Amino acid sequence: MGGPTIAVMARHCPEYRFVVTDVDAAKIQAWQSDRLPVYEPGLDELVAQTLNRNLFFSTDISRAIREADIVFVSVNTPTKTFGRGAGRAADLQYWEKTARHILEAATTDKVVVEKSTLPVRTAAAMGRILHAGGDGAHFEVVSNPEFMAEGTAVEDLEKPDRVLIGGRNTPEGRAAVESVVDIYRHWVPPEKIITTGVWSSELSKLVANAFLAQRVSSINAVSAICEATGADVQEVSLAVGMDRRIGSRFLEAGVGFGGSCFRKDILNMVYLCESQGLPEVANYWRQVVAANDYQAARFVGMIIDRMFNTVAGKRIAVFGFAFKPDTGDTRDSPAIRVCGQLAEERADVVVCDPEALANARHDLAPLGDAVSFEEDPYRAAEGAHAIALLTGWQQYRELDYQRVFDAMIKPAFVFDGRNALDHRQLFEIGFNVYPVGKQPLSRL
Ligand code: UGA
Repeated sequence: MGGPTIAVMARHCPEYRFVVTDVDAAKIQAWQSDRLPVYEPGLDELVAQTLNRNLFFSTDISRAIREADIVFVSVNTPTKTFGRGAGRAADLQYWEKTARHILEAATTDKVVVEKSTLPVRTAAAMGRILHAGGDGAHFEVVSNPEFMAEGTAVEDLEKPDRVLIGGRNTPEGRAAVESVVDIYRHWVPPEKIITTGVWSSELSKLVANAFLAQRVSSINAVSAICEATGADVQEVSLAVGMDRRIGSRFLEAGVGFGGSCFRKDILNMVYLCESQGLPEVANYWRQVVAANDYQAARFVGMIIDRMFNTVAGKRIAVFGFAFKPDTGDTRDSPAIRVCGQLAEERADVVVCDPEALANARHDLAPLGDAVSFEEDPYRAAEGAHAIALLTGWQQYRELDYQRVFDAMIKPAFVFDGRNALDHRQLFEIGFNVYPVGKQPLSRL
């Protein structure tokens, strides 16, 4: 997140000097090469435009801190896997280390900007660490959460729905917020720059992701009702989403949400509610995650039911492993859960993905020989009983499905976990087609 964000700032603010630092020297090297460490459409051109003009990369973190007026911190804050709050609370060790590094290296006043997604009131804790030195420089902590999505990072940063900047309501706090507003003002219309208190800003980031995830869980819950009643979830989404108060986006039913943020941020909020003595509110949000896990399990249940109550020994070609198309990112991908459950049922799982196979191998290593990997979807489908589409990659929509069908064992099944394929065409070829939240097209 740090790289693309700062690169966009550098493009629009030529009179500022931006230095991106990281403890990982290989990453810093890669940012200055032809192969950037992350793939995002438009990012290559952006970095090429600004590199060594007013955008620099360095591993000398102390120097970068010393020379800066404003320090943006975007280190990762994963879910804690150990100790108190394990599985829910955010692991703040990298943030705290960074705060201590700032304290150690700084010789002048700094505005410290929280870019990472953090639990509410982190700014207060950081302020305390930063002022632990007693005398010397003043550090003003400002919250400026990032709302961009993977795959559209540059576009989202260039044209954000809003920029949120939270600071303390004191003269120093207001001045610090203003210094960050000054940067965004270079390209974001003033009405889209919102300034709030620090806690509102920190909480808004968690709430925005929780609301998006909640919409996905809601429509997925509706998909179960559709399957049971004969309604069609895409028709329901269309009808419901045309109400301007509801809106049409994020209403696509599927195998569930994934990615590095939704689950983490909701669980973070659940932990916050629990620690504030709000168990009912915690349960409300926990249910969004539970419904997401249920949807993946329900999908696997449908595969087993439809394939005559057993998938043991049957080859199932999984099309797509990334948590969404156009990324190799597999963090918390529903495909991890689906493949795990299919392997438990002793299916012979073949995973296919244009970008995510390296990550898939890593994620599924605990399953051993139960899973194999194949880049070519035609080869993956050879001798398969079923295809399970888990990521809506464009290339899987464009396959020659007659060729796929010819190479499969009959009856051939398609389980479309993203409602991405042409179901009627597949049915005419001879497949038995099972979408999510829609009636199956089957001859069985
Ligand atoms: C998400 C948010 O959309 C960003 O605003 C936020 O800044 C970011 O998290 C973050 O906190 O870093 P991202 O994780 O990149 O962005 O992915 P999304 O595009 O939001 O998709 C999340 C998941 O929901 C995917 O698995 C996608 O397939 C699923 N989804 C999305 C659905 O199943 N149905 C939908 O209608 C929409």
